[in-house]
Amino acid sequence: MNDADLVLGLDVSTTATKAILIASDGSVLGVASSEYDFESPQPLWAEQDPALWWTAACESIATIMRDADVSAERIAAIGAAGQMHGLVLLDEDEEVVRPAILWNDQRTQTQCDAIHETVGRERFISITGNVALTGFTAPKLLWVRDHEPEVWARARHMLLPKDYVRFMLTGEHALDVADGAGTVLFDLKTRTWSPEVAEALGLDSGLLPRTVEGPEVVGVVSEQAAVATGLRPGIPVVGGAGDQAGNAVGVGAVVPGIAAMSVGTSGVVFAPTAGPAVEPDGRLHAFCHAVPGTWHLMGVTLSAAGSLKWLRDEVAPDASWDELTALAEPIPPGAEGLVFLPYLSGERTPYPDPHARAAFVGLTVRHGLGHMVRAVLEGVAFSLRDVFELVSKTAPDPLRELRASGGGTNSPLWRQIIADVLGAPISLTRTAEGVATGAAILAAVAAGWYPTVEAACEAMVEVTDTTEPGSNAGAYEKAYAVYRSLYPALKDTFADLAAV
Ligand code: XUL
Repeated sequence: MNDADLVLGLDVSTTATKAILIASDGSVLGVASSEYDFESPQPLWAEQDPALWWTAACESIATIMRDADVSAERIAAIGAAGQMHGLVLLDEDEEVVRPAILWNDQRTQTQCDAIHETVGRERFISITGNVALTGFTAPKLLWVRDHEPEVWARARHMLLPKDYVRFMLTGEHALDVADGAGTVLFDLKTRTWSPEVAEALGLDSGLLPRTVEGPEVVGVVSEQAAVATGLRPGIPVVGGAGDQAGNAVGVGAVVPGIAAMSVGTSGVVFAPTAGPAVEPDGRLHAFCHAVPGTWHLMGVTLSAAGSLKWLRDEVAPDASWDELTALAEPIPPGAEGLVFLPYLSGERTPYPDPHARAAFVGLTVRHGLGHMVRAVLEGVAFSLRDVFELVSKTAPDPLRELRASGGGTNSPLWRQIIADVLGAPISLTRTAEGVATGAAILAAVAAGWYPTVEAACEAMVEVTDTTEPGSNAGAYEKAYAVYRSLYPALKDTFADLAAV
């Protein structure tokens, strides 16, 4: 009898590396998290030392095995998912050459413009499925080449964040296709690097790791990594996924029609597609799914729960989340004429504009903190509606279910506001740790427990709660119409502000 009855999932996020241990029926034995910060050495920059991820991964793995009282013999396979697009560069000795440049770094507009110029914007969209955005990896590579020639000269290997952790676990260089497509160096249809794009941008293909599907085994835990983590050598480690595809697997959004919505720092609507569907203007991301042979469309509003966290940190740092959202409860829908634009970190969908800025519009002496909280909850819901409508219009199959995850979905009030504003039911699944769960499910397929990712989700994911749109749904229409008018009205002002 095989003693290996558990899979381990890792989520290498921007704020923590989390570990989850799951059995074959999806039951969770434990979750552990080890936190860190990112640096912003200049306005709009975001960097992190990859050593933080590895240290945190070692801590989380050791903690979870200790707390759940689980021996390493019981782990059948490991999956890692994590923050997408971040650029990790290694030299010929496989040492990190500079801090990773993260997904939320906005320094690369010049490089994005250069990419569109060199390849041709339409040609670029037709190959990669996407426009080059400041957050993506390709412009980060060009930025390092343009601004740090000494660093560039030493760079021999490129990885994304969770691939660095997998490299530390196994010694292997690889990139799964869901994260790979987010480099925008992929040919979306062939699910691997585009020689045409790499050549046009003058990138040496030797820099690019091999590509694998999410549940494919990349390597096994090395002797050295076993000592560092408390794992046993030889455990298979799979390709895994970028965090959004990982989360979609974790909540069971693995077939067309069942979409994932995450309300974390950023807010995401993610729709699986059977083929590579592309938004013709590149306003949505079109990436490979972690389910082999399938793709997905995705829109991202950059500050979702991040907006509420900002308000709390700046205005009511001592309030708990429940205390804060309770202030918004008695305020009527529409926050008595107060509207919040959530573009605190610029925006991606539906306005790919790093200069977009947040705003409260309509403040009067009548408005207090409760109104501001309500306006933030609603403004984020309006932005999610923008994303949801664009995804719904573009996806070939109608979206019949939204499976939600992320810290923001812990608030019943916020779930209700989102369901009302979107006019769609919002479901929750058994675990809030969608990303790490998804990584573990991919490992469960590699362990041979299930023949496909779809079958694994069928067995391991359970919907626990659904919020239906309620009687307030109509009340938001006027405020949403005002919200929709604000970005076009303020766009030029935002650009002027950015130049101040
Ligand atoms: C997706 C994206 C974020 C990051 C951080 O395109 O940028 O999901 O992966 O979570």
